[in-house]
Parts: sequence; C-alpha cells; structure tokens
Amino acid sequence: TENFNFAEGLALSEPGGFVLTPEFGRHVDEFINFKIRKDDAWVVTFPKCGTTWTQEMVWMLINNCDAELAKQKPLTVRAPFLEVTRVENMESAPPEMTTFMPSVEVIDKMHSPRVIKSHLPFFLLPSNLLDTCKVVYVARNPKDVIVSFYHHHKLMKMQGFSGGSLENFADFFMKDQVIFCPYFPHILDAWAKRTHPNLLFIFYEDMKKNLRGEVEKVASFLGKPLTEENMTKLLEHLKFENISKNESVNFEIGKKIGFMNQDGAFMRKGKTGDWKNHFSPELNRRIDAWVESNLAETDLRFEMEL
Ligand code: A3P
Repeated sequence: TENFNFAEGLALSEPGGFVLTPEFGRHVDEFINFKIRKDDAWVVTFPKCGTTWTQEMVWMLINNCDAELAKQKPLTVRAPFLEVTRVENMESAPPEMTTFMPSVEVIDKMHSPRVIKSHLPFFLLPSNLLDTCKVVYVARNPKDVIVSFYHHHKLMKMQGFSGGSLENFADFFMKDQVIFCPYFPHILDAWAKRTHPNLLFIFYEDMKKNLRGEVEKVASFLGKPLTEENMTKLLEHLKFENISKNESVNFEIGKKIGFMNQDGAFMRKGKTGDWKNHFSPELNRRIDAWVESNLAETDLRFEMEL
C-alpha cells in the first residue's frame, strides 16, 4: 500500500515460496551450496523469535561461558547472520556495516567452531545441514512476533518502513507479504523435523518461563555441559535487563553506524503477551482465525501469554 514500501522490490512469495529481496534471488545458490562443517552450531529462526538471545546462549556454551571474550566483538561477528549481506540493500549501507555484518565469504573462512544464524527456511539452506550440524530452532507465538517485527521495521532503516499502522502491518504479515514470510510454513517445517537428532526445537515462551531448563537442554544437545558456577553466570548474562545493556549484543551500535533509527531499541520489551497492548479486539479476532486455520492440521500450539 501507500504506507509501506517494504514490499517494493521484494520477490513476492508464491505458494511454497518465500519473500526476500531480488539481491537474495541473485545469490540463492550461495546459501544452498554454503560449505558447512560438522562442528558448526546453527541458530535458525523466523525473525523476532528470540534469535539473538539464543545465539548469545549458544555462543557462550561453545566458548566456555567466557563473557569477557564475548564483549570483545559484536555478536554479529562472533555468530554471523548467513544471508544478511545479500538480503538487505547493502549498497546503501554505511561502510562500517560490512565489518559489523560479515559477508558469506568471510563466514566461509571463519575459524571453527562457528555459530551461524539464519532466518532461511530449511529448503533454502544446504540440504545436508541437519545430517551434518547441530541446529537450534527457536519459535515464538505469532502475535508477539507481529508486534516485535512491526517495531523492528520501524527501527531498521533497511526495512524501508515508510509509515503505517500495526494493523496494516499485521494484514501484510498474514498475507505473507513481509520479508522472511510466510511465518507458518517456516515454523511448521522445523516442527515436522523436530525429532531429527541434530535439531533442537525450542520456544521463546519456555525460555521466558524457565531459562535454566532451556539452557540445560541446549547445553546437553550441544554436548557442552555446564558447571553450576558457569550456569549461574550464564543465566545472569542472558537476563533481559543485562542483555539489553550489553553492547556486544544489543545492536545499539547500529544507531552509531547509521543503519538504525535513533528511536526505539532492538532489545525492546522482552515480554510474552505484549500484543495485548497493541491489538484491537477486532484485529485480535482476525489473527485468532488466521492462527487457527494454520494450526488445524498440526499438533503445534503456542503460548500467547504466560
Ligand atoms: P520484543 O520486540 O518483543 O521485545 P530476534 O533476536 O529474533 O530478532 O528477537 C528479538 C526479540 O527478542 C525482541 O522482542 C527482544 O526484546 C527479545 N529478547 C532478546 N533478548 C531477550 C531476553 N534476554 N529475554 C527476553 N526477550 C529477549
């Protein structure tokens, strides 16, 4: 519509398709053929599902919970985002962006063990990913994802947000016309693969309810058991109050480099059920109907509030 231009230039999803930029379309083979290593740990998610939180957890588990080492480099360098330099319009990005967000070529040369983030659905990642590497997949309820993604669009300049209401955004989201959509097929595909020994499927809401329990699950999945001392340190490190102040994780640098707007924060609220502060009863009913129809054929269920 006149209010959003994020659809401009995006390859609109077809049935079974996926919304990304034309730049991505030109580089799609790089992701499918990306050279993976047995000791890579991947964090794969639909955006706004708790990716950054989980990435930091995984990086810490793999790096002996060394918070001092973690502080030395941004998370985006320690646990890079595979497709980002191809998804966004990097030509208009500030030059510092390339150091902050390493390219596929740089990720390819990183030392092992690597932690790699991707928002791509499995069909656009190397076909042997799950048979080769450990993958942590995090899901979050769609209502909070819509709210969080709306704010993300306002915050990140490259989303090309040019105004528009949350309701307007929710409609685009439900029509699968937002970058990285469609939401349900992304999550349902991972849900269907959840018994694969190399896939750990977890929920943001469970991390909110019992972070220790989820850290234990991830640590055991990665084969990185924790001492009680490190567990205590890590839980403190991952708390919203701390992660949102941690400059190597909170993306505040984006405001200095210039790819983020000054208003708002990437670490925004960190709550489950914030949608209740945003949706009108009418919008909520429409979203409920959309959720219900998408979950009709599956046993996947979300916790919309805690
Ligand atoms: P909100 O916008 O609802 O606050 P992603 O990393 O996938 O983009 O997800 C970002 C969302 O995760 C944001 O949600 C952010 O606040 C939330 N988040 C990040 N760290 C968190 C933490 N330690 N506890 C709870 N939520 C966290």
